[in-house]
Amino acid sequence: MTQTALITGASSGIGFRIAEQLAAREYDIVGVGASERILELPKRLPGVSVMPLRADLTDRNQVDGLWRQFEQMNRSLDVAVLNAGASLGGAFIDTDLEDELRLLALNVTSQVILAKHIARAMAGRRSGRILITTSMSATTPTPYESIYGPTRAFMYSFAQGLREEMREHDVSVTALLPGATATEFHDRAGMQKTKFGDNSWKNDPELVAKLGVDALFEGRDHVIGGDRRTRWSAFRNKLSPEQVKARRFARDSNPNEPA
Ligand SMILES: NC(=O)c1ccc[n+]([C@@H]2O[C@H](COP(=O)([O-])OP(=O)(O)OC[C@H]3O[C@@H](n4cnc5c(N)ncnc54)[C@H](OP(=O)(O)O)[C@@H]3O)[C@@H](O)[C@H]2O)c1
Repeated sequence: MTQTALITGASSGIGFRIAEQLAAREYDIVGVGASERILELPKRLPGVSVMPLRADLTDRNQVDGLWRQFEQMNRSLDVAVLNAGASLGGAFIDTDLEDELRLLALNVTSQVILAKHIARAMAGRRSGRILITTSMSATTPTPYESIYGPTRAFMYSFAQGLREEMREHDVSVTALLPGATATEFHDRAGMQKTKFGDNSWKNDPELVAKLGVDALFEGRDHVIGGDRRTRWSAFRNKLSPEQVKARRFARDSNPNEPA
């Protein structure tokens, strides 16, 4: 029987690569994106059935509408990937509060709402796999991206707790923690003037997606998304005091420090 994967943020970056890998495993894809380009997804993923859904996940009505549309498709939900996310660079005293509230709505609130529907649907069938893209930023304070890191820490902790609850329902939950990855992400966050403005040193989104999808099917609790240097940073973050990590992060994220 055909299996279905629902993926948010499937139009670009890590989410698109995850969609590609799940398509290669013969999953039909329901791909969600905010802009019109999600409508191109069927062309970009030939060979499987692809249903694009456009929704701005900062808007509660559109999050609910997205789930209703998924239900109307009358498909079993075998894999769900909560991946859509964004950041906002700059000093907290300068950034716009409304932008930050939208960031919280996208990175946290929409994910909790979708996770509620997904977890209930999968528990009802006693089967399913959930992948949540968080970040290495869950393991460090993130000055000059001061709201972003805490949203990823929330999702990492949420994934670990939900995983334990869902065990009795035969549903697995895996967290993917990418290191810096070469996508549109930092450009969209307005971080061009920082070390993150340059994509040349970052992880390949295809590698990050592969690590996430492999961990999902292995039923692992989490995986670091990146190369050896990224795994080393994850290990170092476990051992370092918060103040040290905050100072280190600021060197790379402060737009007023030379990159
Ligand atoms: N890139 C990194 O360095 C990095 C590192 C660690 C973790 N991550 C995490 O990886 C995930 C994916 O990021 P990425 O690097 O692949 O970024 P990306 O290339 O900017 O892709 C973001 C995706 O999310 C969608 N999206 C953005 N705002 C949305 C909204 N309001 N409603 C619905 N969809 C929306 C975008 O759709 P549209 O294009 O249509 O707007 C796009 O498909 C995020 O959760 C991020 O926190 C990224």
